[in-house]
This record gives sequence, C-alpha cells and structure tokens, in this order.
Amino acid sequence: MKIRYVFLLFLGLASPGVSRTLLGMNKSLAGEISPAAAKRQTGELLADLSTLPDAALSPAGWTIKNILLGNRAAVSPQDLTTVYTAPGPLDSSECRRETCCVWKYIADAMATSFRDGAGRCNELARQAVRLGFHDAGTWSKSAGGGGADGSVLLAPSELARDDNRALEVVAAQMAAWYAEWRPRGARMADLIQMGAVVAAASCPLGPRARAFVGRNDSATPAPPDRLPSAANSDAAALAALFADKTLSLGELVALVGAHTTSVQRFFDPLAAGSPQDSTPGVWDTLYYNQTASSDPPQGVFRFPSDLALSQYPPARELWQTFANAQAVWNDDFAAAYVHLSVLGVEHINDLTECTGVLPLSG
Ligand code: HEM
Repeated sequence: MKIRYVFLLFLGLASPGVSRTLLGMNKSLAGEISPAAAKRQTGELLADLSTLPDAALSPAGWTIKNILLGNRAAVSPQDLTTVYTAPGPLDSSECRRETCCVWKYIADAMATSFRDGAGRCNELARQAVRLGFHDAGTWSKSAGGGGADGSVLLAPSELARDDNRALEVVAAQMAAWYAEWRPRGARMADLIQMGAVVAAASCPLGPRARAFVGRNDSATPAPPDRLPSAANSDAAALAALFADKTLSLGELVALVGAHTTSVQRFFDPLAAGSPQDSTPGVWDTLYYNQTASSDPPQGVFRFPSDLALSQYPPARELWQTFANAQAVWNDDFAAAYVHLSVLGVEHINDLTECTGVLPLSG
C-alpha cells in the first residue's frame, strides 16, 4: 500500500496531466480505463494534438490522442486482428492510391528478414527495435530538437556516436531499404519506426503495436546526450531523462522490457554476446523475472541500470506486474511505443494508421 502511494505521488508530481487519469483508478479492470493503465500514462498530449478540438481530429489523430490519454475503452494500443490487403501489385495505380499499400510490401519484406529459421526474432530485429528508440528518444520537451525524424541514419555524425554503437547491421539494412523504397515515397523516419513495430511483432509473443506513417525526415543531427548515456544510470536519473520526453516512469518500465530480446556486445565487451534474459529471440516476460531474481540463470547479463529500475521502490510493483502478465505488458509496451514513436512529430494529426500491414503476432 505504501509503495503504491509513493508511486502515485511520484506520477502526480511528475505530470500534472495525470490527475485526470488517476480519476479512473477506482474503475474495475474490466471497466473503461484499467487502474493499472491509468496510472502508467502521463496523459500529456503532444504537438498539434494538444490544441486541435476533437472535431478536427483525423482517424489517426483521434487514435493517438486516446492512446496518449490511456483511454483503453476508446482504443486498444495494439490491434491483433486487422489485416491490410494490398489492392494491387506494387507500382500499380491501385496500390499508389492508398497510403498503406507500399507499406504492406515494405512490412512483408521486413518481417521476412526479422525471423531466424526457428521462427524467433533475430539480431536485425533486435537492432531495429533499439533503432526506433534511438531515433525518437532524442527528443526533449524542455530543450526541443531531435525526435522521430530519421536523423539517426540520415546524419552520419549521429550514427557515429557512442550511444549508437551496435546498430551497424540494421543501419546497413535500413540504408538498402531506403534506397529501394524512397522512390516509392517512403521516408526514413517512417522506415525506422515501422521497422521497430514490425520487429517487435515478428518475435514470438511480441506486441502488435499500432503503426503510423507520415513523419518528416531531417538530416540535422539530433542534439547529443539525449539517450541513456550508459547502462550504469541510477533509476531516478533514468526516470528524469524519460520524464523530459513526456514518458512516465511506467512507460519507461514498459519500454525497457524490450531488453527481453537483447544481446549486449559493447556495454561489457568481455561478456559480448550475452543476452539480457535466457530467451533473447522471444518477447516473453522472463526479462522482468530474471532481472529481478536473486538467482538469475548463468549466462544472463543484467545491465546495472535495469537492475536499479527493477529495485526502484516506485517501479517495483509495476515491474512485478509485467513479470507475471504478458498481455498487460504487451498492451503497455504498445501504448508507450506509440507515444515514443511520435515524439518530435509536429503534425501528428496528419499521420495515417497502417497497423494492418504488420505481421500477425506470433
Ligand atoms: C532505459 C534505459 C536504457 C538503457 C540504459 C539501455 C541500454 C542498452 C545497452 C547498453 C544495450 C546493449 C548494446 C550493446 O552493447 O550491444 C542495449 C540493447 C538493446 N536495447 Fe536498450 N537501453 C535502454 C532502453 C531501451 C529502450 C527504451 C528500448 C526500446 C524500446 C531498448 C531496446 C534495446 C534492444 C532491443 C537492445 C538489443 C540490441 C541487440 O541485441 O543488438 N532499450 N540497450
């Protein structure tokens, strides 16, 4: 009870917008806004969504707004069933008329390259998820600049930063995809964010987070020092870093679960190749269990910052919730990822939803 109080107090202080969502706390889990979901969203709206009246919202704008508000009764952050069928072959006039059509061909190509022979997600997929974070996560609410604009690959000096080590495989593949799909209208910022959600959905048990396209590209390097500098940070510092991106502590805890697929190489070169849980190609909850465990399996390498988060009193209860509830975590990851994937996008209302192009989750 005490932990819960501290957690709510933290969220309340961290975000004035949360008071509205906290009103949903007493509704039952089966009700409109799940108590858990409510306390995990900041409820803060971004860019044009913070000023546009509901009547002016596009379908994508309405969906993203409700995801940011944590309004799960209005819209689920995942769509597990919709399948988009291309109206015609690539380059046909039927295909060119629909924004999502080219993305169906792109997502199919991505999904094929993100799985290994055993159906698990591979190194390219893991790097694609991380790349999505490293492009969008450079945005800062207080200082501006950065965001989901493709600059991590379009500005060579950004990719060369220490933050972005161990992204070479996906960087090379994205460059090839960009050369192939740019003439058909695909932008780098969208390729990167589509890559991240296709990759997550390609992992067994992975979420099928809603996918949007229509971001603008930029070749201006994002300001430096916007990403977690090393996996040594303490939990309060990480929470503050994410709060400056409008991401709550709960969203941070949900997003860092992406380390369920992770295999580190550079954080500790002596242990290069060691995974962050015992099933790196599977999007399961073992990462949360094994990070918090007093007796982790041999060979599992835990980042000090992950360990710190798992033990951080305001985060501990949620960490345990995710450890025991795949579906709850997948929904929260999806909501937090949609939020992350529009950071720095000025005209969110102009985006188009193309979730139907994603592979059905394994
Ligand atoms: C919260 C702070 C975070 C820290 C300190 C952190 C740190 C790291 C480090 C040090 C690595 C290993 C890089 C290497 O040496 O190969 C890594 C890998 C990875 N990270 Fe994070 N990360 C954080 C958050 C996130 C988030 C929010 C996501 C995605 C939403 C993410 C996704 C990944 C993935 C998928 C990998 C595996 C890449 C691979 O296996 O090649 N991380 N992270």
